[in-house]
Amino acid sequence: MAILQLEDGKVYTDLKDISRELASLNIQLDYWSVGEDPQLHELLAKDSLNEDEKEQVLVALDQYFNELQQTAGYQSRDLIVLHPEIPNLDGLLAKFDKIHTHADDEVRYIVAGEGIFGFVRPDGSQVELTVQPQEYINVPAGTEHWFYLTPERRVKAVRYFTNTEGWVPEYTGTPIHRRQAVA
Ligand SMILES: [Fe+2]
Repeated sequence: MAILQLEDGKVYTDLKDISRELASLNIQLDYWSVGEDPQLHELLAKDSLNEDEKEQVLVALDQYFNELQQTAGYQSRDLIVLHPEIPNLDGLLAKFDKIHTHADDEVRYIVAGEGIFGFVRPDGSQVELTVQPQEYINVPAGTEHWFYLTPERRVKAVRYFTNTEGWVPEYTGTPIHRRQAVA
């Protein structure tokens, strides 16, 4: 279940409250089931997946991709698998942990692990959303955001693209309002 934290420390876990808080950004957050397939669950529980296994996971969840293809013109999907043993994990994550935008929507379906998206709202306030398994998020093009992992440093997410060219972060230079670390 997603968790939204505001700058004043307020925390929301109800999807309705979260949607209201994110409404000014047009962010779409939905629950998408991964289903009951035991083979899929076995793959999702593994830390690292080879290319064949990644493709098996994608195929098992392609009903969602097919829908996005038909309704919104999505062209491709891949599976990103991050865990602490990935070489240069910090280097990979460093690309996205500063405030940036993209020319296209950032569309992710978290299938295992979790990640935190930070957003700058139109009034300048910042919020952080922890996205957990079986949650789909669409961050519209041009939204100032950042992304990092929780201390477990594990996530598997399907990424959906209308076009993979130019999928690069454009840094806006906006500073992140860091909260006091909770002991
Ligand atoms: Fe991004």
